[in-house]
Amino acid sequence: MNPNSLAVYITSLLWLNLIDAKIGYFWHITDLHYDPFHNSQEFHKGCRHNRANVDHNHRNGRHRDHTCDSSWPLIQSAAALMAERHPDTLEFVLWTGDILSSSMEHLSEEVKLEAVRNVTDILSRTFSSQFVFPALGHNDPPPSKKLVDMWMQWLPTEALQTFQTGGYYTIEQSHSKLRIIVLNSVLWAGGAARTDGPHRGRAQWEWLEHVLSKARRKSEMVYLVAHAGPGVEERHNAGSASAAGGGELTPTANARLLHVIRAFSDVIAGQFYGHRHADTFRLIYSEGRPVSWALLAPSLTPRGSGSISNPGLRLYKFDSNTGKVLDYTQYYLDITNTRGELHWAIEYNLTQYYSLREISATSLDGLAERMLNYHDRTLFTKYLTALRVRHTTDTSDCDATCVHVHYCAITRADYHEFRACVRNPASALASRAPHTSAAVLLYAILIIISS
Ligand SMILES: *[C@@H]1O[C@H](CO)[C@@H](O)[C@H](O)[C@H]1NC(C)=O
Ligand SMILES: *[C@@H]1O[C@H](CO)[C@@H](O)[C@H](O)[C@H]1NC(C)=O
Repeated sequence: MNPNSLAVYITSLLWLNLIDAKIGYFWHITDLHYDPFHNSQEFHKGCRHNRANVDHNHRNGRHRDHTCDSSWPLIQSAAALMAERHPDTLEFVLWTGDILSSSMEHLSEEVKLEAVRNVTDILSRTFSSQFVFPALGHNDPPPSKKLVDMWMQWLPTEALQTFQTGGYYTIEQSHSKLRIIVLNSVLWAGGAARTDGPHRGRAQWEWLEHVLSKARRKSEMVYLVAHAGPGVEERHNAGSASAAGGGELTPTANARLLHVIRAFSDVIAGQFYGHRHADTFRLIYSEGRPVSWALLAPSLTPRGSGSISNPGLRLYKFDSNTGKVLDYTQYYLDITNTRGELHWAIEYNLTQYYSLREISATSLDGLAERMLNYHDRTLFTKYLTALRVRHTTDTSDCDATCVHVHYCAITRADYHEFRACVRNPASALASRAPHTSAAVLLYAILIIISS
């Protein structure tokens, strides 16, 4: 085949793809961290972990305190935005856990369930004709009959069975080849190993591999959805992944999940996680080749662990026939700069913001490589601004070492590889060499197409 007919062939494939695409949308909302005791009268109750900052931030007004978790008015404003920006072809909602503020930890199961019910109710009013698929986080009540009763409006019977025992389930989209797998990452996290986690954690591995094998046989594409995904927290510079706060996957679980993702990368069309209170992404490689991507949505709560951000909500655009993710619109609420009123705005659209031709492991890998350019910080500044949901656009606090840590966090989901990458910038670059030549080849093809 000569280069010209190859170009015609590829172009017609692209066209076929466009014609067949059935555009759908879904919301990804995460880490609401609702704090029922957050109000201006009893301010300290919602902010008890950070007394030192309370007085300072109090002056900014109650919605604007970055040391507080979400107040009820903040949750109401998020629901109102989602109701207002409701596309006709909204297919479902992914809701990836940490519904409750960690300041509720010591409260009774009853109070926690009441708070979860209140959030469930507002979501079911907002999405009266869609299904919401919840994933459990480490700040949420464990699976129980009461949770099943609350969420049976959204989950079919088979899903409720696995949910009640393990907090995980799968959803088959009846009109397409897309399957959603919702995992309970708490079972694979540090804390769970001390309780009944090991047994249920093992059951979840077996179940996951079984569901993925079945999906492959049926030629389905799969979305992996969970509260916490694989990889490390970039802001803990030392890279002590397992020492990080609750909810992190244990080193063993992280390694095993990466293994499963590599083994089924042909079936997995995308991974969607929350937990980090950061807008970022992760790449998984197999023999140096990017084979799978994970997009991490920022939290609704402005409060983070040692970091702060604006509240965010994300609307995905996808091909609902194939599950291929086409783009997303990131919404944010600038709580530092608004005067009292809660005004949500579009922060950016993914493909446009980073000039991506498409969303794939290869294109996101290219983005990570371009971001590492030490001579031109433009792209990295965009990334870091998005990571903090525009809480600040000043990125001068992140020096070259810090840039490198971010790069390692994105491209090294394995805990050992991450630490090695952080220790040794030169070897990190060298190990990428084979794949760089693949990028050059891809570029050559693109040039042929466009000429
Ligand atoms: C739940 O909502 C009810 C009715 O609005 C309210 O009275 C109650 O205080 C709320 N409880 C929690 C924990 O959010
Ligand atoms: C982002 O995409 C949305 C939906 O397609 C569109 O309405 C909006 O104008 C775009 N915004 C920007 C900043 O490009």
